[in-house]
Amino acid sequence: MGTEFASQAIALCNSQDLVNSGAAVPFDVVYCGQTCYAFAVRYADQVQAYLNRCTHVPMEMDYQPNQFFDLTGHWLICATHGAMYSPTTGACRSGPCRGGLVKIAVSETDGVVHWHTAHNLKPVDF
Ligand code: FES
Repeated sequence: MGTEFASQAIALCNSQDLVNSGAAVPFDVVYCGQTCYAFAVRYADQVQAYLNRCTHVPMEMDYQPNQFFDLTGHWLICATHGAMYSPTTGACRSGPCRGGLVKIAVSETDGVVHWHTAHNLKPVDF
């Protein structure tokens, strides 16, 4: 193993598992050495993935499992105190959030969604 980091694409779900503004698909990652929950959603046809961690208090955002969208379907919301984040960038819009959600790179090819590792973002070893 060299010192250069090569990003790896890890299969996450089928494209049809994610519908616009619908339920998220959860997955686990190791972020900066810590196992964290993450989730993928589809918004305006694009798949987006973030750590499932509110920036206000580092806790999970979904009160109902895998429900991150607010009633309008245009914002990701933290169920605990109502912080709102853009589904496309993770930037916060209102509420007690401090900074945006941690974004995870994803790709979609041939009906399969993959997430991409990064230097601080790794798969969980089983
Ligand atoms: S923990 Fe998310 S808004 Fe407070």
